[in-house]
Amino acid sequence: MTSTTESSSATELVAGFPFPFSDDRYRYSTNVEPAQRAVTTPAGQWGASVVDIDSEYRAELSQRAAVLAADPTRHAVLPHMVHAAWDAMVTVMRELDAAYPDQMQLRSTGTDTWLWRNGILGIEQDFRYGDPTSLPEEPLRYITSQIQEDIALLDQRNGQLFVDAGVVTFAADWSFGFDVGMSFLEIHGPVPRVRAEGVITRAHEFLKRLQPHQPYRRTNWTLTIDRRLDVSTEIYHEWGPDREHIQTVSDAEFGRRVHLRVEVQHLVRLPDSGAVMFLIRTYMLPLEQLATVEAWRERTAQVLAELPDDMADYKGIIKFRGRAAQWLRDNVPRART
Ligand code: HEM
Repeated sequence: MTSTTESSSATELVAGFPFPFSDDRYRYSTNVEPAQRAVTTPAGQWGASVVDIDSEYRAELSQRAAVLAADPTRHAVLPHMVHAAWDAMVTVMRELDAAYPDQMQLRSTGTDTWLWRNGILGIEQDFRYGDPTSLPEEPLRYITSQIQEDIALLDQRNGQLFVDAGVVTFAADWSFGFDVGMSFLEIHGPVPRVRAEGVITRAHEFLKRLQPHQPYRRTNWTLTIDRRLDVSTEIYHEWGPDREHIQTVSDAEFGRRVHLRVEVQHLVRLPDSGAVMFLIRTYMLPLEQLATVEAWRERTAQVLAELPDDMADYKGIIKFRGRAAQWLRDNVPRART
């Protein structure tokens, strides 16, 4: 029996879900668009702000804290990125203040001094910009303990971008600890097709020209078994076997456990440091809820069935994407729970 709270939260998650497919066929592209524009979907809308808080807020923050406590390599700030981390923190605070003015406020209290208030978590914090003794934690870690987004910061030097700082606890099958210090082009080395098609080199050129106060966004997607945010390479042994096991479960269990996982990624040029801030916000919807929206059910079934094998393999879904497509075809919409 689903409780009222659970079902209203499920309804909210469907209403705010950033459905990623604009066509029945999915291919990689440099799919960037200006941010802060609401997208209306058959179920609701998403995308009005750069940061997004939903009913999973507290649950996801406690998962992030647990991941960081268990594995410190999910957080890194290379020495030359300390300034960018402060810039990122204050930029995110401004975005929170703009999106949730009743609960979140950033107020100037003097030259370089600020008062930050997060009314949801009951936080009031005075701090001095750039002074680490004025905050309980390193600034990137401090602000990622108050948002659902992961953050990576990219330094731009010698015509290239390098992932030199971040707090990334919800990576979809990659390792922040392994990638930190690598260039944007190196990081995308394993992605099939994109080199030949120029997707990543175009994205790189685009990012190098990104201007402050003109944030952009893109989406990416995969399938994840269970509502598991942390599917980092480091703990593959914990979640990898589920991809085998899921093939043997009943149809009802399959629809409950297989989730369409969508990342809304924001790209922001930080105004003081000049670093690029990459925000990754992860949304997940089980197939059984996705199927309650007819347009989403049909389109996702088409995309999954048509996706070329090399892309399905790279996404780690090759063994069960066929069943997921069939499951969606077989499950006509029912009333939303
Ligand atoms: C316009 C900007 C960008 C584009 C077009 C882009 C494109 C892509 C694509 C197509 C993939 C493969 C995804 C999949 O099959 O599921 C990917 C993976 C990835 N991207 Fe990006 N990306 C962008 C920005 C970034 C930035 C700023 C970072 C910084 C951390 C990043 C980090 C990654 C990582 C870590 C992976 C996984 C690579 C792996 O499997 O080891 N991307 N990206």
